[in-house]
Amino acid sequence: MSVDAARRARYLEALGIDLWVPRVAPARSPAVANVAPSAPPDAVAAPARLADPTGPGLVEGLHALAEGAAADLPVAADWEGLRAQVRACTRCGLHRGRTQAVFASGDPAARWMVVGEAPGADEDRLGEPFVGRAGQLLNAMLAAIGLPRPTVFVANMLKCRPPQNRDPRPEELAACRPYLERQLELLRPTLLLVVGRIAAQNLLGTEAPLGRLRGRVHAVGGLNLPAIVTYHPAYLLRSPSDKRKAWEDLKLARRVFGELASGKPP
Ligand code: URA
Repeated sequence: MSVDAARRARYLEALGIDLWVPRVAPARSPAVANVAPSAPPDAVAAPARLADPTGPGLVEGLHALAEGAAADLPVAADWEGLRAQVRACTRCGLHRGRTQAVFASGDPAARWMVVGEAPGADEDRLGEPFVGRAGQLLNAMLAAIGLPRPTVFVANMLKCRPPQNRDPRPEELAACRPYLERQLELLRPTLLLVVGRIAAQNLLGTEAPLGRLRGRVHAVGGLNLPAIVTYHPAYLLRSPSDKRKAWEDLKLARRVFGELASGKPP
């Protein structure tokens, strides 16, 4: 653990904060050392599909093999390289249906980072995260705690849109994970705001329901980055009665950020 991470861990301990230990340990690159993917990439499904060399499964199986091999490639070490790598990524099958990969938005020196689930149709078209209706609500949520959207770094667990906005698959999350890990390393935000069950469970390596993940500060990855979990804005659009609870989460996030930024224990 680096001096920085150790200091942060001591600070988080003083705050009574959980340190989450990932369920599985394997690391594909230095960037994924502490937050493990929940499943290996695509290639594992290939042998069954390859069994009939005359059927359509052959091509699919070869794609899966190629994608699995790509998942072992190292991840670029700087913003420019990482952005280019994400743009050209073929680590999982989602690249075939995308208009473009959605890297992130916001200030690369931001102290706040929002982590969402995956691009939707608007994001796929425009190449930016959270630009649709959910994005408008996210902007309002951030503004409510005094954060203009451009001052916040916003990224998703997945960089490519799942078809019909279905839930991300474990192998897609695993394939994309090194990109998010590198984004965390390069940004080193003071606080992460994790929106929605899928992002929260995957980032924290837990199956606990969202309700149990709210209301406290988690520490993510080898850097022990502090993280607060709240509802996904798309969920809040469907269930506006939970906006009150989201507001509680946002106030907690603002308070914790203030404490972390000031360097004073609460
Ligand atoms: N939902 C997300 O989780 N991310 C986006 O970028 C858009 C909608």
